[in-house]
Parts: sequence; C-alpha cells; structure tokens
Amino acid sequence: MKGRLMVSFGAWVLVAGLGLLWGDPVGLQAAEGPGALPTGGTVNAESPGPHTTDPILEKRIESLLAKMTLEEKIGQMCQLSFGNDGGVSAGIRDRIKKGEIGSFLNAGDLKAKTELQHIAVEQSRLGIPLIFGRDVIHGYWTVFPIPLGQSCSWNPSLVEEAARVAAAEASADGVHWTFAPMVDIARDPRWGRMAEGCGEDPVLASAMAVAMVKGFQGKSLSDAGSIAACVKHYVGYGACEGGRDYNTTWIPERLLRDVYLPPFHAAVEAGAATLMSSFNEINGVPASGNAFTLRQVLRREWGFDGFVVSDWESLSEMINHGFCADRVEVAKKASEAGVDMEMVSECYRSHLAALVQKGDVSVSVVDGAVRNILRVKLRKGLFEHPFTEPVKEKVSLRPDHLAVAERLASQGFVLLKNEKDVLPLSASIGKVAVIGPLADSPVDQMGCWVMEGRREDVVTPLAAIRRLVGEEKVVYAAGLKASRDLDTAGFPSAVAAANSADAAVVFVGEEAAITGEAKSRAFINLPGAQEELILAVAKTGRPVVLVIMAGRPLTFSAVTPRVGAILYAWHPGTMGGPAMADMLFGKTTPSGKLTVSFPRTVGQIPIYYAHKNTGRPPSERSLGIPMGTPLDPVGFESKYLDVDFTPEYPFGYGLSYTHFTYSDLALSASKIGTSDVQTVRAKVTNAGARQGDEIIQLYVRDLAGSVTRPVKELKGFKRITLNPGEGKTVEFTLRASDLAFWNDRMEFKPEPGKFHVWIGPSSAEGLRGEFELTE
Ligand code: NOJ
Repeated sequence: MKGRLMVSFGAWVLVAGLGLLWGDPVGLQAAEGPGALPTGGTVNAESPGPHTTDPILEKRIESLLAKMTLEEKIGQMCQLSFGNDGGVSAGIRDRIKKGEIGSFLNAGDLKAKTELQHIAVEQSRLGIPLIFGRDVIHGYWTVFPIPLGQSCSWNPSLVEEAARVAAAEASADGVHWTFAPMVDIARDPRWGRMAEGCGEDPVLASAMAVAMVKGFQGKSLSDAGSIAACVKHYVGYGACEGGRDYNTTWIPERLLRDVYLPPFHAAVEAGAATLMSSFNEINGVPASGNAFTLRQVLRREWGFDGFVVSDWESLSEMINHGFCADRVEVAKKASEAGVDMEMVSECYRSHLAALVQKGDVSVSVVDGAVRNILRVKLRKGLFEHPFTEPVKEKVSLRPDHLAVAERLASQGFVLLKNEKDVLPLSASIGKVAVIGPLADSPVDQMGCWVMEGRREDVVTPLAAIRRLVGEEKVVYAAGLKASRDLDTAGFPSAVAAANSADAAVVFVGEEAAITGEAKSRAFINLPGAQEELILAVAKTGRPVVLVIMAGRPLTFSAVTPRVGAILYAWHPGTMGGPAMADMLFGKTTPSGKLTVSFPRTVGQIPIYYAHKNTGRPPSERSLGIPMGTPLDPVGFESKYLDVDFTPEYPFGYGLSYTHFTYSDLALSASKIGTSDVQTVRAKVTNAGARQGDEIIQLYVRDLAGSVTRPVKELKGFKRITLNPGEGKTVEFTLRASDLAFWNDRMEFKPEPGKFHVWIGPSSAEGLRGEFELTE
C-alpha cells in the first residue's frame, strides 16, 4: 500500500486559489452557480478520477429533472427516519405519493421498506424510488470489530472483505446505503467516536477508507449485494475541542488539507457514492453550511458527483451554532453550500420552495442537488430494481461471514505486554480462572453502533474458552457486574477463582454504552472498580493476563506492572470470543498494531506520533525538578515535569508471540529527482520459534521545509507472514509526490532537501536512512 495513492491530490502543484472563499458560501454561490458544478474540477493528473461522466445516465437525469415540479425536486432532498413499530402512517404515505420524500433511514424491516417502496414507485407521479439508508457501521447481523479495532489489523483486504459481508447482509434486508465509513482522523481518546474511525493517521485511515468503500460498493453499485457508501463526517469532526462530541473545531487550512481531508479524498477517488456533512463548525462555519469544503474542495477540486447528506438535524443545528437566524436561513445557506439531502430536520421541506419562488435561492441550486441524488439512485440501479427480493438461502451469520469476523477480530488484537512469555497459555493447563465484567458480556463485546446484531449470536470469551479447553477446567467469576460497577462484593469469589487456577485471565474495559456518539469521557481510565479487581487478583500471585475490551485507548499504567500480559481487544464483535480463546491458548499469534497512540495519562492529550518537533524538543533527560532547587536544572524543553513525554504505547506498536529483527536497510539512491522513484528495502526476519505476521512500516521526515513538517509520517505498510527463522526483504517505493505537502503558498508539492526514512516495527523504532530530493 503506497502513501502516494492515499494522498494524491493529483497534480503536485494545486493552488488553493479559492481559499479566500472559506466561510463565504453566498459569495461562492453568486460567483459560480452551484448547479453547474457536478463534475468539474478534477485535478488528479495521474488518474481521471472515479466520476467519469456517463452521457446516457446524464440524459436520463435531465429528462427526469425536466418533468419534476419544484416540490418534487425538493422532495428528493428530504430524508426522514422512523422505526418499525410506528408502522407507515397515513401522513407519510401521502407524502411519498406526492413525491415529497426521497429517502428514509431506519425504515424498519424488509417488509416495511418494501411497502414504502411500492408507494413511491407505483403511486407517485414520477415513480422515483426511495433510497433506504442505515448505519451499517461494523457489520449487520454479523458484527465485526469496531472500526478502530479493524484498523489495527493493518489489513485493508480483510477489512474490505468484512465490508463486503456487511453489504451482503444489509442489502438482503433491503438496505441500499450505509452511513459508513467514518474516516475522521481522531487524536483525542476522550472523544467517544474514536471507536468508529481508523485512528490518528491519514495514510492508514485512507487505506481503510478505500477498503471499506470497495467492500460496500463491490464491483458495481448496482449489484444486488452492494450498498452505497457514505463517507463521514465531512469534515474535521474528530478535531472537536477537548474531545467533547459535537464541539467546535479550529483547523488551519493546511492541517485540514494535510491531515483531515486525505481519507475523504481517497474514498471519493475510490468511488464513494455519497458523503455526510458533519455536526461541527470549522473555524466559525458549520460543516453543513460550508461552501469551501463542500463546493470548492469536494466538487471543484475532487470532482465528486455523488450526493451529500447532512448529519441528523445538523442543518437546523446551524441555528444553535449561531450561523443561521432561523430555519429559512438554514435552508438557504445549506442548499447553497452544497448539502443535497437533509437528514430529518425538514428545513428544506418547509422553506426551500418559497426561497426559490422569491428568487432568494436559484433553482439551479435545487437542480444541482437533485441531479446528484438521482445520479446515485440510477447508479444503484434503483429504477430497474426498486424492490429487494427476500433471499431464499440464509445470508445472516453464514459460516463464511463468521469466519471473516473471527479473522478480523484476531488480526486487530494488539499484544501490549507479554512478560516472561506468560502468553500463550498452555492448552494442557490444569485450570484457568476467567474473571471480569467483560468476560461474558455479549452486548459490550459488540461495541457501539450496533443496530441489528443480537446478543444471542455473540460468542463470548467465556463460552469460547470453555469450548476450547473444556468446561471443567474453567472457573468463572465476574467480580463486577459491569465496567462501571463500584460494588466490590464479587471480589472474594474472583480471588477464590484465581487461587483455584493455574492462571487468571481478567476481562476488563468499557461497556459499549460509554463509547461512540456523545460518549466523551474526561478520564479515560478503567472505569468502576476494575483496577481494584485486577490488583486483588494479582495479589494471589497467579500469572495474570489482562484483556482489555474498549472503544478507545485507556490509561491503566497503575496495573500494568502487576500483570504478566496485556492484550488489547477493542470491542471485537460477534466472534471476538473464539478469536480471543484461540489467541490466549496459542492457536493463533497476535499481529495487530496500534493505529492510535496510547497516552500515559489524560493530561498528555493530544498525543500523536506525527507531531512537530518544536524549537525545544524534549530529550531523554530526567524528569522533574529536585526539591529545593533554586533554578530549573532540567532544561527548558517541551515536556511535562510530571510524566514522560513519550506515549505509553506508540502508534504502530504491537508485540507477537515470536519476534522479528530488522536489518540491511538499503535505499536505491542517495539523491532522487522529482520524477525518480526511491526504493527502500529492509530485511525482516522471524527470530522466534513460531510462525507470525509482522506489520512493517515505512516513515519519512522532511528535515526542513517552507513550513515545518512532522517528525515522522507514515508512507506505507505491509503485513507479511514469516515462518520461524525465515527472512524476507521488504521493499517500498517512494515517489517525489509521496513527499508532497501544502507549502507556504498553499501549493501541494514536494520540496527539495534532505529526508530521513525509516523501515520499522512501529513509529518509535526502525532502521533509519537518508536521501536528498533534488530539483
Ligand atoms: C448521527 C451520527 O452522527 C451519524 O454518524 C449517523 O450516521 C446518523 N446519526 C444517522 O443515524
């Protein structure tokens, strides 16, 4: 996987000449006429982009548009939500008949959706089909690990397979469109939605974004087993101040372009059908009313021709933001900025027609939005196949689906510590104590954003360990009822369980309910009395293995020295239990690596590997100031006095049951020109006694630029399997375009000068070489 693919803003030199339009949606509208922007502005010189115009399709759009009344057009721009229980009310039926609704989310089961579709197709004047959306975030009936856990596999093709399975299951249930992938870069684990994304790095997140889009949409969007992707939340949502959900963001344009936009761009290049505009404001302008991001970047620069849906009421919330005085202004600003479909809040329905009639909003704004929506409906094949036939063969939770879920869970587990090879446990162990509130907690194991996953389909670690080693060998005591439980009444039986066993595995972490949307935490420690439980078990002197299931990095350094091994399992989904049992007992070997830095303490946040160096970078010198010192002897450096400056576990880190050595770094040239390719190689050897997978990472540093560059940037990665004693030479290619960034003049291009390059097992280690980029 090459970084180049992921960050290809196309031509190296792309001048963000319209940056001055930032936050000036109306000016942009007046200047350009938004309806005229469906396909223009693709700037990628290397690829024409995914959105090649299909004249036949465009003709169909135009002929349909010509027949539509203004009300019918605005109807396409409206999306409603309702559950199954309420049924289809007469009012809703009537609105569908009148062509006043273009889409539903959460529209119930297949029967309910089919009923609605019949009304749209058979009883509305133009018979335009509805598009049904659903949050298929990490699986449908088969629940995969949370996306953050998936990303720790560093295995885009497996992630793509999982998205394909999710698409197969969801589409069989009449879902046309998922609100995924979420590709928000997140560098603050207090933010609960970190669980839904792929971590802190734009190159890794871009690779995962592409994989998910490809998996959901398959070879063709119109295939029965495909669903349209919706890349979200556009944009900057993960940069919320203080990690507090929905909060304000301040993102300089360079940072936006270098870090937050690339995964969206990669997903658009991969053909993503839709995008979702986010809740947050960016530098004072809400993302759902932001002509700069929605029109200038997305449409003009990237050539996106699918449609943009708002997030849930993110349009009407622009009043709360203080960006719109009322719902009339919302309808004007959002439509002109480029939000094609409004989720739920119905400002378009109430006010857009009058705005157009009065001449306050050009009809070309509405036409442009409707074109985009119809284009996706046509590409999805909804006009030809509006109904989902009930499938005869079983599609939910098929064995092959479960196998993908198990493999992905396994590859996303990250071994953080394994002192004296506590793990793997011997299969011939006498007795094993299974302890902790997450050992047998199916709902928590599935994680946040699970809509159809059922608790009875989940195999928990307790069930899987019993099955693997035999029920008689397992002593189980939860110790606490839930992660936040403070009642220690269950401790004595947990301690007794440990005492009666040869080893204890303690499953702790976060309940699913405290991760995900609106689940920000000011402290990211193990909640409840879990630390006390671990310490009580550790006191028995038995070998203790800690398994942490969580939706974000947690801080737990107080217990780390007291346990032999720590396996970070995220919320691993339906098959997390068997994946875990096999790993604990050595049938599989850990291989996942972190896609987000783990802080030592919440006070270090934000902490991420690709930070800037500062003028006074921290050094390895001692911490703190001795008492009684009149003047600081430690040095005036960028650090904390009370905690090491490094993270607890760095980005890219993860252990194995075997170990790998890196040698023989070689670069093809000490100097490369702007049209040359640099080849970077290293030998990686499995120096242990077991087969294992290693994720090898390529980083670079641009030593001096017209603007400062991060101390390290991921540019590529590879997962390889090595037998004991086996060595392989791994090769990466770097082009000058991989070294491009948004310079002091807001041009995207590489700058001549010296670079460091590393091949290594994490962002904190590796073999270093250097080369020069010449003019
Ligand atoms: C709000 C969330 O922010 C978004 O991610 C989700 O897709 C929508 N609600 C629809 O459920």
